[in-house]
Amino acid sequence: MTTPLSFKRFGVAGNPIAHSRSPFIHEAFARQTGIALHYDRILAPLDGFADAVQAFFQQGGAGLNVTVPFKEQAFALARDHLSARARMAGAVNTLWMENGHLHGCNTDGLGLLNDLERLGHGPAGKRILLVGAGGAARGVVLPLLDAGCATLRVVNRTAERAAQLLAHVLGQAPAAAPRLSAGGLDQAAGPWDIVINATSSSLGDTPPGLPAGCYAPGALAYDMVYAAQATPFMLQARAQGAARTADGLGMLVGQAAASYAIWHGVQPQVEPVLEALRQALYT
Ligand code: ATR
Repeated sequence: MTTPLSFKRFGVAGNPIAHSRSPFIHEAFARQTGIALHYDRILAPLDGFADAVQAFFQQGGAGLNVTVPFKEQAFALARDHLSARARMAGAVNTLWMENGHLHGCNTDGLGLLNDLERLGHGPAGKRILLVGAGGAARGVVLPLLDAGCATLRVVNRTAERAAQLLAHVLGQAPAAAPRLSAGGLDQAAGPWDIVINATSSSLGDTPPGLPAGCYAPGALAYDMVYAAQATPFMLQARAQGAARTADGLGMLVGQAAASYAIWHGVQPQVEPVLEALRQALYT
């Protein structure tokens, strides 16, 4: 099937990519906002991401989302035209061409912030525990600080990596020092108002080994991963006294909404698309 010329082309590049829900989300936003677009999944070879990006834009592509494992490579490709958010995250999930130059932004942090607000647990004034120190955690530390959290502790199975992440963040935002700390999982004891799982543990079936006593009354446990059932982290959180648990589907739709706003200059509504996606995935 060919794409009508009036349809701008967008896509998401990753490896693997077959599971990506981004086409569903962007096509739903397009219907909602009355914009004609075509959105593809692009399987980029593990050693051929730069070529895939070049080909996409040479063939008239207007905007490209980037997912695992290419976000750092996308950052490098757009290094001359990065948004402040991308520079903070050290990774790019949204690419576009402007005046012949490749631009990059990272909307993951915005997606998380939007979802926490949607859930009624906005980060301002909250004590937050962030579990994990890989790319997923790195993308959200500065947005959480910027959103005015009271304190933020990053803990990781390998404590050294949490310390490295802390040093990286303080290099860019030294004023955050009084609010920011790092340690191993044994330093996770709370109470915390929000506990965010940014580890990949939920892709297996064991939760991160958090001690009891993490959760303040009314606390939210948020897993950045999403799944049909409660994730191992969410189950652990309920057993340990979290008042509310949520998975990361809302963050996924939220980061897509922020990409959509960059590309189209229109802010789509997240809630109806989130509902439709949950229905499509799990019923
Ligand atoms: P991503 O880009 O998704 O963050 P990553 O950079 O590979 O992926 O990081 C994975 C994160 O999940 C790390 O923080 C990892 O902890 P280590 O640094 O100690 O490896 C964490 N992780 C993965 N499985 C885990 C588990 N079962 N328990 C606790 N942490 C886990």
